[in-house]
Amino acid sequence: MHERWYQQAVIYCLDVDTFQDSDGDGIGDLPGLISRLDYLARLGVTCLWLNPIHPSPDRDDGYDVSDFYGVHPDIGTLGDFVELIHQADNRGMKVIIDLVVNHTSDEHPWFQSARTSPDSPYRDWYVWSVEEPSDLHQGMVFPGQQDATWTWDDVAGAWYYHRFYDFQPDLNMANPDVRAEVDKIIGFWLQLGVAGFRMDAAPFIIELTKPNDPNPPKDFDWLTRFRERLSWRRGDAVILAEANVERDELVKYFGDGRRLPMLFNFMLNQRTFLALAREEAAPLVQAMAESPTIPGSCQWATFLRNHDEVDLGRLVGHEHDEVFAAFGPDPDMQLYGRGIRRRLAPMLGGDRRRIEMAYALQFTLPGTPVIRYGDELGMGDDLSLPERDAIRTPMQWSDQLNGGFSIAAAKQLRRAVITGGEYGFEKINVASQEHDRESLLAWFQRALHSLRECPEFGAGQASYVDSGQRSVLALVGDAPGGTMLALTNLAGKACTVDLGPQPTQEGPVREVFADRAYDPPADDLTGLRLGAYGYRWLRLRETLGR
Ligand code: NOJ
Repeated sequence: MHERWYQQAVIYCLDVDTFQDSDGDGIGDLPGLISRLDYLARLGVTCLWLNPIHPSPDRDDGYDVSDFYGVHPDIGTLGDFVELIHQADNRGMKVIIDLVVNHTSDEHPWFQSARTSPDSPYRDWYVWSVEEPSDLHQGMVFPGQQDATWTWDDVAGAWYYHRFYDFQPDLNMANPDVRAEVDKIIGFWLQLGVAGFRMDAAPFIIELTKPNDPNPPKDFDWLTRFRERLSWRRGDAVILAEANVERDELVKYFGDGRRLPMLFNFMLNQRTFLALAREEAAPLVQAMAESPTIPGSCQWATFLRNHDEVDLGRLVGHEHDEVFAAFGPDPDMQLYGRGIRRRLAPMLGGDRRRIEMAYALQFTLPGTPVIRYGDELGMGDDLSLPERDAIRTPMQWSDQLNGGFSIAAAKQLRRAVITGGEYGFEKINVASQEHDRESLLAWFQRALHSLRECPEFGAGQASYVDSGQRSVLALVGDAPGGTMLALTNLAGKACTVDLGPQPTQEGPVREVFADRAYDPPADDLTGLRLGAYGYRWLRLRETLGR
């Protein structure tokens, strides 16, 4: 239906080093991932998003890059990477990678050179201050783990700026040489066949940082120029950007369709958790009403969980407390004073009905769905691991050694596999779910394949209809080719919805997907039953040939 592939994609985010180890060294690798591509194709994934794959000291799970032009030797070679692109392409799948150019690792040769002398050609690639900056203790992203954004470097004899951890010095994007290098980096990976990038920390990349200025101006024009160069290299390349910013600023990132084509919808994510906690649709209706209108060529990306904490920082005080109380009551489940470091299945008490409902909801919200590896199995978390590592445990493939992730000795694994209890690999794994038509994995396969028949949801014009029930979200997705209606009951109590005929409706109403077998829907959309945590996807119109 849509020319732009990213408006109808299903994006699957994974970390190569915890996905599948093929050589028994305890670390997942590219050949291992290649051997699992058929699994992903069968699931219904159309695009992979790989968390950082570059050489790195791995102090921030690869988001501390020490060479932008390579692949971490632990996961393979550039040859393996190109083979991955080729094999994914054979299965109709695209690959995007993280673009982490706000900062480098402090072990990057550029920083090592920059710190040694003010005359280094790389000195001005970073942000320095000879005097102690007055904003030293402002703007930290990881409060509790990080207490400053400037750190004194004895070797340099100066302070350097780091928006994130102190081992991640920020690049100076005001320097034209740094900008030229970023162009070279994207050119390199596009040439190797990536379909685009997930842009890490977009708001910080464009900040024109100076000492003593905690709120520096942002250079949005850089995003326009960046997009132009990207599109010249590969016309259909996408940027999926991380920009968790205020509503009024969001539109500047889209820039009339000339800047970033796709942004994660962080506001919708937070309001979804509030809606799940309250078992009420109102927070979702509010989020959609507050989402700015975006240009036709642009798209939101929806997500429930990602590789970071659930960031609730944009909810107001009592809303924030409600979500904490419902899904992360123990201090150990909380992180940075604003988030929850858990996977979705344990947050929802392992309740299959609620888990399905939450994903059915995500898939019908405006935007392209992004899912996180293992969520299709209902994998759990390991709170004994530090910070966000709790949700970064190895993929659980079978009930064999190390969950089929690796044949290495357990102590050699990059991260321990979740063992025992409700979420251990013995119970939750691909092999057992693949043979079970009632499994969560089988449900994901059906849901994602059904979604392909309903492109109106993610990419159409979304509008909210009053369902008359506080717990039910009624969403209409309208596009030239058809109209879909999604009904989602966020509460554990069955109900009946009387919507009445909808303006864009045409011909008989047809049930496409639902949590159970319901009586056929009436064409006037009255008397529509919904079970506890039930959902129904109804086709209201199909215009063939459009
Ligand atoms: C955002 C990433 O999502 C997060 O995982 C990382 O720690 C920071 N950026 C720093 O790169």
